[in-house]
Parts: sequence; structure tokens; C-alpha cells
Amino acid sequence: MSEKLWGGRFEKSTDEMINDFQASIDFDKRMYREDIEGSTAHAKMLAAQKIISDDDAQKICAGLQKIRESIDAGKFEFSVALEDIHMNIEKALTDSIGAAGGRLHTARSRNDQVALDTHLYIRRQVREIQRLIVDLQKALVNAAEKNRDVIFPGYTHLQRAQPILFAHHLMAYFSMLQRDFDRFSGVYQRADIMPLGAGALAGTTFPIDREFVARELNFNAIYSNSLDAVSDRDYLLEFLSAASILMVHLSRFSEEIILWCSREFSFVELDDAHCTGSSMMPQKKNPDVPELVRGKSGRVIGHLMALLTTVKALPLAYNKDLQEDKEGVFDALDTVKFSLAVFAQIVAGMKIRRDNMRRAVEEDFSNATDLADYLVKKNLPFRQAHAVAGKLVHYCIERGVYLKDLTLAEFKTFSNLFDADIHDAIKPETCVASRNSQGGTSPAQVDLQIVAAKKWIKHHEHID
Ligand code: ARG
Repeated sequence: MSEKLWGGRFEKSTDEMINDFQASIDFDKRMYREDIEGSTAHAKMLAAQKIISDDDAQKICAGLQKIRESIDAGKFEFSVALEDIHMNIEKALTDSIGAAGGRLHTARSRNDQVALDTHLYIRRQVREIQRLIVDLQKALVNAAEKNRDVIFPGYTHLQRAQPILFAHHLMAYFSMLQRDFDRFSGVYQRADIMPLGAGALAGTTFPIDREFVARELNFNAIYSNSLDAVSDRDYLLEFLSAASILMVHLSRFSEEIILWCSREFSFVELDDAHCTGSSMMPQKKNPDVPELVRGKSGRVIGHLMALLTTVKALPLAYNKDLQEDKEGVFDALDTVKFSLAVFAQIVAGMKIRRDNMRRAVEEDFSNATDLADYLVKKNLPFRQAHAVAGKLVHYCIERGVYLKDLTLAEFKTFSNLFDADIHDAIKPETCVASRNSQGGTSPAQVDLQIVAAKKWIKHHEHID
């Protein structure tokens, strides 16, 4: 007979290579805390329902607590032959408390057990990710406040478009992260449903109390269909999707920081402590961290694709394919947490080269729209104003000068609507200040964003 916990109907023991192939202990052991929490709640419920005795339940709970301490202390020996975290713990429990340990799995299957553990684990991790999102948001708001008067070019098509406040640009990432935070709240909500009690797939013949377990583990809801409870991986797909979108945001930001660090832009300089050099080229200071975050976004997106593909054609209910859900999810959450944490440091340590930013605005034509708007305010139709401004830009390019260098007389040869106030109207400060529409780049509007952001942070920084 096989020595496995499920060995009754087997004559032979499992082939060693098959053991290795199907074991998940190497990665699911990180859910030991959740497995023990879930089993403790289950045992208490079994006793409350008189399915096992109080005495057995007490032995089980105390035994589980001891196992938790031994795993915490790094003293527990995990066995591949016992496949996964569930059977490793159950076997250790039975070894330590005897027959009572064998009663723990009454009215339960590993199918609903693993679902429970993963729900608990994701719930916890989502909160950690949300805390890290808020930390990064704080770093962004700080940098925005510190550089509140810095003007630089906003881009479209990676061409200088209009002058904007650098703080406005930073606050755009704040808004993106706000949506990420909300998306993770949605993930939390979908993970906050209790699957235990589904048994292998069909429920159980024992008079269990699922509400009891849900209360014990602080779940907001209970799966209403046992088949769905054991085969649902939507919450993990949503997790990976929220993680992918977040990583895409960080990747876009990374790309900008990498560009800004280049000699061509020279808009920011990263802290020495956040960069590396080259083994060959002595002059190099490389922005490895944003490069890596940009690179890692691909990994997380890959995990989302992998799980979608795994689940896509699975018949109900549990199939072992579902064991493949964990490694990608674990890697994604490690990657997201690490990336958020380093990013907060990068933002906090980033030196802003305001003079270069200023030059990029002054020595270019990003104020051309303002020139056109000036004429529109003197009642010229926008299309005509656009054409006049375009001609002026062309005139400047031919002479190697900028709009600010033209004399009033020169302006007047293009339109007699130009007055002495034109030079003031195309100054970067004026361009920025006059974009005072809601959500625009004027200092007043950006201040409103910063005030709202701080309020939002206050409301969300102590989430639990
Ligand atoms: N290690 C398994 C998983 O991660 C646990 C559930 C196994 N269930 C089973 N019937 N073999 O999915």
C-alpha cells in the first residue's frame, strides 16, 4: 500500500519523478499561515457542530499552533512526497497529536482548502500592495510640492507640445495609482468570499456551518455554489490584471525617467545610490532600476496571459491544472511589491535639473498655441490664428531664433492684432498660468490636485 494520506486504493507507491513533478510544496509553503488559520477555523466549526469532540478540536488547534511556531522558526521539515502545504501540515499534526489529527479533514477536501488558503493569502497581500501604492503616492506628492514652480515641456508624439508644470506631470501618475488602488480594492472584494464547505465539488454530507467559518476568518461573503467555489480563479485573474496594469503604469513612468536621465534630455538625475556603473565604460551611470521595472512589467503581464490560458478550457470543477495558478501569482505579487518600494525611493531621490527643463521650454516653440490663443482673444478665428502662428514659427526657424526673440514690429508684419503685451503672453509662466481650466496645468489647478491628493492619502493610508 502507498504511504500517502490518500494511499488506501493504491498498491504501488508513487514514482519518484512523478512525486517531484506534481508537488507544489516548494511554492505553496508560503501559505502556511493561511493554511493553519483555515484549518483552525474549520476545526472549531466541526466541534461547534458536534461533528468532532471539543477535546479533539482543542488538540487540533493547539497542535496547529505548534506547527505554526515551528515553521515560523524555520524548524519544520517540508517533504516533497507529501505534495503540498496542506498534507505536510496534516501529516505533522497527526504525527504530533495522534488520531485526533486524522479528524481535521472531515467535511473538507484539499480543493476547497487550497481555495480558502489562496483567498486568505491574496486578501492579505492586496492590502500590502495598497499600502505600498500609497507610499509611492506620498513620494509623488512630495516631489510635486517641492518642485511646484518648475516648468518643463509637455510632450505629444514625443515632440515638445506645450509648457506644463513638472508637478502636473507627477500628479498624473498619482491619478493612475489612485485607479490602481481602486482596482486592488475590487480584487480584495472578490477574494473576500469564503469557499470552504464546498468539499471536493458537491458540498458535504456533514452538518457544517459555513457562516461560522466565514465569521471566524472575517469573510464578507460565502460562495453560493460549491462547484464555483472550488473552480473559481477569477479573483486571481483580476489580481494579475490589476498587477499588470499597475506595472504598465510603472513601466511608462520608468521609460520617462530613463529618457529624462539621458544626456539628450538631462531633465533629472537619479541618486548615485540608485544607479550602477559600467564594467567597461568609466563615464556611465545607468538607470538600471527603472529599466528593470520596465522589464519586469513583461513578466507580470506574462503571468496574466499564462493563467488566462490555463483556465480557458477547464471543465468544472477542480482540475490539477489549477495548481499552476500559484507560481505566477506569487511572482507577480513579489514583483509588484518590490517595484513599488524601489520606485518610491527613486522618486524621492530624483534630482530635478530645473535649468535644463527651463531651457527646453525657452529654446523651442511650445508656446506657439499661446501665440494663436492670443490672436483668438483679439477676435481672430482660431483657424486663422493657427495659420499666423505657424508662419511665425516657420519665420523663426529660418532665422534660428525663437518667438520671444522677435520684435513687436516683426510680429506686426504677420498680423496687426499684435500689441506690446505679446512678449508677456508667450512667457512660459504666462502659458502655464493661463491654462486654468479644471484639471489643467496652472499652479492654481495643480494646487487643487495636490490638496485633493493629500486628502485622499489621509483617507487611504491606514487601510486594513
Ligand atoms: N496542491 C493543490 C493545488 O494547489 C491542492 C489541491 C489538490 N487537490 C487534489 N485533488 N489533488 O491546487
